[in-house]
Amino acid sequence: KPYIVIMAGGIGSRFWPYSRRKKPKQFLDVLGTGRTLLQMTFDRFSEIADPEQFRIITYRKYVHLVKEQLPELTGDQILVEPNRKNTATCIAYATYRIHSYDPDATLIVTPVDHLILQEGKFLRTIQKAVLASQEGDRLITLGIKPNRPETGYGYIQYIEGSGKEVLKVKTFTEKPNAKLAKTFLESGEFVWNSGMFVWKSGSLINAFRKYMPDLAEVFEEGMEFFGTDQEADFVSKAYLQVKNISIDYGIMEKSSEVYVILGDFGWADLGSWNSLKENREKDENQNVVEANALLYNTKNCFIKTDNDKLVVVEGLDNFLINETDNVLLICSLDGDRKFREFVSNARKKG
Ligand code: GDD
Ligand code: MG
Repeated sequence: KPYIVIMAGGIGSRFWPYSRRKKPKQFLDVLGTGRTLLQMTFDRFSEIADPEQFRIITYRKYVHLVKEQLPELTGDQILVEPNRKNTATCIAYATYRIHSYDPDATLIVTPVDHLILQEGKFLRTIQKAVLASQEGDRLITLGIKPNRPETGYGYIQYIEGSGKEVLKVKTFTEKPNAKLAKTFLESGEFVWNSGMFVWKSGSLINAFRKYMPDLAEVFEEGMEFFGTDQEADFVSKAYLQVKNISIDYGIMEKSSEVYVILGDFGWADLGSWNSLKENREKDENQNVVEANALLYNTKNCFIKTDNDKLVVVEGLDNFLINETDNVLLICSLDGDRKFREFVSNARKKG
């Protein structure tokens, strides 16, 4: 039975101010379904897994949110990170910890910021990936056919005809620049990395030893502490020693053991306001309105407030209006890059 490792420690800064450091997007009901992104991810995998197969790895300040939103889990299933050191570190912690008591484990590693429309198809693809991961030291990723030159994703070039469904990966390029992304898209030889991975714990540990030996060394010293009352102490020290780097840059770009299974299950990444807008119900003028609003001559806008204040808008096209308890953001909806700047400057202003 594979473990389902849910990575839920990101900040979601491109959703600011709705998504905040105190409560990032994975803990919000961003789609208006009544379930948060974390809960939706848990529900999706619950079709093929029992509650005890889950592990949630998150930043220490979000542990209470995970407990509140997934009361099915026991404390031992929540892995607590003392700092944020990106996905290579969080995956290493989860993998070494599981490996310490179950060296034959298989892990399904998943982000929380996805929408999957065809769950049946998705779960069948996951099951194929689990099977494929049992051979050798294969690192399996699910690939998605791209439809635009998005620069926020990883791009995978696979070897045509290298397998029926499990294709050998030739190159993996994380977050290419716009020009490269366009070239990749036009060549027709690339798929997006969905960010969901399947591997045996031992396969990934071999990859860490080979491609990130410093990280491997740090966590290998912890094997005797996992599951004991010295674990938190060890982890605090370990997290001070490791680099801040994602699994995509640290392993996927480098390893020659990467294989891709193409997925066609209505995948969407919910990384930004724009992607959220695409996946929400819209009015006749293509506006998403989650506010008490009066709109005139306004189209393609995303208007969201968390209060009853009447919002009156005239003459806007492609704008975001988001009011929270202490921030009102009004900005154009193109380009997601400026959000990091908003967040850091807003912090300075207090
Ligand atoms: N626990 C923990 N700790 N989780 C983290 C951390 C961390 O330090 N950093 C990020 N995460 C979580 C996020 O909450 C998210 O669920 C997941 O890990 C992926 O992180 P993102 O920050 O959303 O990555 P990305 O979207 O830029 O890129 C990844 O996903 C793309 C597809 O959505 C990459 O894998 C790309 O290659 C991929 O195309
Ligand atoms: Mg993401």
